[in-house]
Amino acid sequence: MAFLRFLKRWWHMRDPEIRWIVEVGVEEIPEEANPVPERMNPPYGFVSKYIDQMSYLLEDPDLVLTLMRSAEGKINRRMRLHGLRGEVKLLVTQPEIAQGPYLIIMNGSRFDAWLLTYYGVVVAAKLDEAGVGTTYGLQALRFLDEWTGEVDFTAIKLKERLYKWGPEFSVYIHGIDRQHHYLVVTLNNLYRFLLAGSPRKVIDNTLDAMADYTKFHFRSEERLFDKYGYPRAEGHRRQHQLFVNKVTDFMEKYQAGEQKLTLDVLHFLADWVRNHILTSDHDYGEWFYQHGVPVVDEHLVRECREARRRLELPLQ
Ligand SMILES: [Fe+2]
Ligand SMILES: [Fe+2]
Repeated sequence: MAFLRFLKRWWHMRDPEIRWIVEVGVEEIPEEANPVPERMNPPYGFVSKYIDQMSYLLEDPDLVLTLMRSAEGKINRRMRLHGLRGEVKLLVTQPEIAQGPYLIIMNGSRFDAWLLTYYGVVVAAKLDEAGVGTTYGLQALRFLDEWTGEVDFTAIKLKERLYKWGPEFSVYIHGIDRQHHYLVVTLNNLYRFLLAGSPRKVIDNTLDAMADYTKFHFRSEERLFDKYGYPRAEGHRRQHQLFVNKVTDFMEKYQAGEQKLTLDVLHFLADWVRNHILTSDHDYGEWFYQHGVPVVDEHLVRECREARRRLELPLQ
């Protein structure tokens, strides 16, 4: 029986393209990025060099809602600012806050302020002052440094990554799993580069890699559908096309400077990828398995089912 299975698999793997998709999938899965924000020169050495460019991250009117999707916990306190230079530095570099990405919200009697910090470095700042309007970046920080009075201080801890790759994502095909893993790491890296206020070039390269790679990955899956006659290929292909259209549309606007890469956009991309893998891609994995398509790895089936049971995800 085992020999017959081996023979069947060997027969299918004679097609070098299929063999590559099934066994390799992607040359290399990227490392998880650990960006170190570039700091300004003193006296604002706890501030990202790119603060004035990155503060658009706080423009989103649904910002708190968007960031809440990445929230893991929060610290609340009422405190007094004394208009002393260096007070903001003390706030954002205190040990607990300097251990990860945070959204800090300060409400004073005449202003609301938001700071995005990454390991104790302020990456973006926004200030709404009653009767004056909104300011961003360094200007907002300088205002806070000079402020005297009571404020409500809330520090929301943000997740380090959007989500982690795990066996529940498996579609039972080694090479495709590697491709999905590549996509998840790339999206997480993009998230971290954004939060760390990395230079535009780094963000652009990762974004390009993500967009190109998605198309390549979709072609790999569709090649398998054609080869093995997956009956729901048509609808699946349409989902791929819709996503490619959205990404292409976004990339054109992004490159023309008409649209920015916000956390909201990133959450949309990442949620789509996760839902698609866990439902639509899982569907073809199951179909391949149930129809004895020999590209399926039974060890991965067992691992995935166990993980999905643990996470209470549907098995079929
Ligand atoms: Fe996929
Ligand atoms: Fe897919």
